[in-house]
Amino acid sequence: MEDRLITSTMQIDDNDVENVLRPKSMSSFIGQDKIKSNLEIYIQAAKSRGEALDHVLLYGPPGLGKTTLAHIIATEMNSRLTVTSGPAIEKPADLAAILTNLEKNDVLFIDEIHRLNHSIEEILYPAMEDYALDFIVGKGPSARSVRININQFTLVGATTKAGMLTSPLRDRFGVHARLEMYTVSQLAEIVTRSSNMLKTEIDEDGAYEIAKRSRGTPRIANRLLKRVRDFAIVKGKGVITKEIADFALTTIGVDAIGLDNVDLNVLTAMIEKFNGGPVGLDTIAAATGEDANTIEDVYEPYLLQLGFIARTPRGRVCLPKCYKHLGKKISDTKSAQLSIFTDDNYDEEK
Ligand SMILES: Nc1ncnc2c1ncn2[C@@H]1O[C@H](COP(=O)(O)OP(=O)(O)OP(=O)(O)O)[C@@H](O)[C@H]1O
Ligand SMILES: [Mg+2]
Repeated sequence: MEDRLITSTMQIDDNDVENVLRPKSMSSFIGQDKIKSNLEIYIQAAKSRGEALDHVLLYGPPGLGKTTLAHIIATEMNSRLTVTSGPAIEKPADLAAILTNLEKNDVLFIDEIHRLNHSIEEILYPAMEDYALDFIVGKGPSARSVRININQFTLVGATTKAGMLTSPLRDRFGVHARLEMYTVSQLAEIVTRSSNMLKTEIDEDGAYEIAKRSRGTPRIANRLLKRVRDFAIVKGKGVITKEIADFALTTIGVDAIGLDNVDLNVLTAMIEKFNGGPVGLDTIAAATGEDANTIEDVYEPYLLQLGFIARTPRGRVCLPKCYKHLGKKISDTKSAQLSIFTDDNYDEEK
């Protein structure tokens, strides 16, 4: 699973290119317009007051730009950035040390903030609310609480699982920004920008072809671009065209809308073995030999976004669009039953 091309989670060979391609300013960050314009206002206001920006929670699936935005926030605030992550902070004292070292208006970025352990999380509450740390000194009846003030700072927390955040922590963030998957034209813009940075020529149709197969995710778009570039050098004239992109991506097993053989196995199993569902995640995992968490975190977000599947209290169901893409027949009765999931008022989170 680790070397699959279409996973949105970070992989080792993304590292080199990712740092080069990462947009450094709000203006080079493509898409997420609402988040960007709100942040720009809050940043400008905080700067004109000479205060720290309100704490920001960034959430959404992997590879959509949370880490990138955290860096941009610090840059635009002209502040120093300290980077850490939930699992990296092992003891309350580790976090206390980080917090006491912050200078006025610094940005502290905690990635995977849902993985902070509870005793550590409690240190954050007074730090976020009152810019203070509370310590208990002494033992038994003589124990007393001592408060130490720290500098004003901005906490930027990122998570792919907002639902796993405790509510006291969630409530202490003034700004909640949910990153959405990108449209094909936004991804084409990202691919074109990245291609220029990698000094590879690409035409508009070539960029669109890669964008259409990138599962709404800039990280995947950049990864596919890298592969297509190799094909363009070896098989073409070094220029990425629609033909080269199509040939390369078909060869490496990414279909016209970005599905790979795992997506197709999962969807085919749901239709053929379980009559399109509802079927539980663990059952799907067992039937396809895939890991349930991988299906949920890596494959499902895009299938939900495409409107290929829906989540119900009794399990996952395949929707008519999915039958169509796979060239499978669906009865009129089943299609009618499933129409409730394609209504606009249907909320997949329920
Ligand atoms: N809006 C964007 N415009 C251009 N490129 C982007 C944008 N968002 C992300 N990218 C590209 O995608 C890569 C992945 O983004 P980033 O590391 O910020 O994702 P993430 O949300 O932090 O993912 P994870 O949840 O895995 O930590 C970046 O290196 C950058 O090159
Ligand atoms: Mg990240």
